[in-house]
Amino acid sequence: MLLFLLACAGPPEAPVAPAAEKPTPVEVPSEGLDADLEHTLAFHATRPIYEQPHGVGLKVPEGLPNLSAETCGACHTEIYAEWSQSTHSKAWVDPQLQAEMAKSGNRWLCVHCHTPLLVQQQTWAIGLVEDDVEAPQLVTNASFDAELREEGITCAACHVRDGVIVGPGLTDSTAPHPVRAEERFTNEDLCLRCHQAVQTYPGKTFVCTFQTGEEWEAGPYPGEGKGCRDCHMPEVERPVAVGGPIRKVRRHGWRGAGIAKVEGIQPPISANPPGLDIEASWSGQELALTLTNARAGHKLPTGDPERWVQVDVHFEDAAGTTIGKPWSDRMGQEWEWWPTPKKLGDTRLAPKQSKVETLDIPKTAVRAVIEASSHRMSEETQSYHELETYPISVVTHRMTVSETGSEGGLLTD
Ligand code: HEC
Ligand code: HEC
Ligand code: HEC
Ligand code: HEC
Ligand code: HEC
Repeated sequence: MLLFLLACAGPPEAPVAPAAEKPTPVEVPSEGLDADLEHTLAFHATRPIYEQPHGVGLKVPEGLPNLSAETCGACHTEIYAEWSQSTHSKAWVDPQLQAEMAKSGNRWLCVHCHTPLLVQQQTWAIGLVEDDVEAPQLVTNASFDAELREEGITCAACHVRDGVIVGPGLTDSTAPHPVRAEERFTNEDLCLRCHQAVQTYPGKTFVCTFQTGEEWEAGPYPGEGKGCRDCHMPEVERPVAVGGPIRKVRRHGWRGAGIAKVEGIQPPISANPPGLDIEASWSGQELALTLTNARAGHKLPTGDPERWVQVDVHFEDAAGTTIGKPWSDRMGQEWEWWPTPKKLGDTRLAPKQSKVETLDIPKTAVRAVIEASSHRMSEETQSYHELETYPISVVTHRMTVSETGSEGGLLTD
């Protein structure tokens, strides 16, 4: 049977090498927890920052029974409720991640961004056979916490280091646990450690291509003082913990494109409305469409190269019958994965960039119907991974345009 994979990002299209040639992970015996920890930290220190775990998680902060998000949620109720709806909380249970990881020996790479603490990882890499990223030497992790792994990018993944709760640094904190202020909570460093990573692996058909940080830096938002948190963690005034003082703090929903990981579970649209704006005007026999990346602080869409944003237009006559040929525009990246990953094209809109498309209006048309949507993957990829119940797209705009004006637009909650 032929097998292939993809990875940090990359859709499958064609089969590759026969299974016999595939390098595989090797299990090595444990030398005890302390020695294993030392070996894995030493190995990871030789790798790029985005291939390293974020923390260990063996020391639970004083005053807390464990690191689970539910424990934090007993006091930080609203933050917990928001996080529970977020993609970050689904970063391990994500059915697509699970399907992709099963297809390659490179999963040790995936875990550091999707389950960033060493205690969340069932095995630890301590080296590579012949420097092959698909052939890690793995020891079984004696401190593995299977329940914490389920929580993916859990509170502790961002907030626990060396047995201390780290955060932005509240003035006159009333915290019952030790706290330490760290700068990466108030600039882009925390986010970019996972959202900016570019790496190719010679001889492999997967790449790591998250360029959200560079896209943001190249755009107008840094100059306006708007970073990742300003759009993805909007400000709110409320108590940080039950019974605490009201403070100006930030929501924890991180709404992105709004394509749920689990049907029905995601932050509301108002938490961060879609990036696209559509203006349409009907003049004579022409429909002019202006498509703008009005709200995304980076390219639209960013991140995973399989994603795209689509605009569909069809015309109707007075009886409501579709006439003429429907029109469609797809804004995304185009990659060739075999034999070597290569980007072939990129039609995404940069931050605040607009483009105008002009469509001919069929003679008997009285209205144009416009729909926009965001897509995570194609139907082919969905069925390749056997992910039939996994949501793969979301409609973001619906509008109709006629000689007398337009109705509808961005969908709201
Ligand atoms: C992806 C990283 C990340 C995760 C996961 C995360 N946080 Fe935060 N958290 C942040 C950042 C960034 C800030 C700083 C926001 C700011 O600028 O004030 C923050 C701030 C806080 C604060 C300070 C008050 C506030 O709201 O700004 C508390 C308390 C907090 N987080 C608790 C939690 C809890 C509890 C969880 C899990 C339910 C959690 N966080 C998950 C990144 C994270
Ligand atoms: C028993 C209640 C309780 C539990 C459990 C709890 N916290 Fe807190 N935490 C607080 C209180 C109270 C504050 C301070 C709030 C204030 O002063 O407004 C706080 C403050 C914080 C801050 C802000 C630190 C700063 O100053 O930057 C963070 C981050 C945080 N907690 C994260 C967590 C995480 C993560 C967990 C779970 C591992 C957790 N907390 C568990 C009560 C709790
Ligand atoms: C430990 C790595 C890590 C850190 C730190 C991190 N992220 Fe993420 N983020 C991810 C991963 C992985 C996903 C996707 C999970 C999945 O789809 O399985 C994600 C998803 C997202 C999404 C949602 C994408 C979508 O369309 O659903 C947004 C928005 C986002 N992150 C913003 C942020 C911001 C802002 C910060 C900084 C406060 C941050 N992230 C910190 C790894 C991280
Ligand atoms: C000016 C507001 C703004 C800023 C700044 C911003 N984003 Fe976004 N981001 C958005 C919007 C809006 C979307 C939804 C785009 C869409 O409709 O698909 C989004 C989507 C995303 C997604 C999901 C993929 C996608 O394009 O749908 C990720 C991941 C993400 N942002 C991460 C980040 C990170 C990391 C930063 C900081 C470098 C950041 N964003 C800065 C507004 C912003
Ligand atoms: C450098 C950090 C990093 C590593 C390493 C990483 N990821 Fe991710 N992953 C992310 C981020 C950030 C996102 C969110 C980007 C977005 O939504 O566009 C993400 C999203 C995903 C998604 C969801 C895509 C979608 O459209 O919803 C899948 C599936 C995934 N990763 C699989 C993997 C696999 C498999 C590996 C290992 C081969 C891996 N990742 C390694 C950071 C990482």
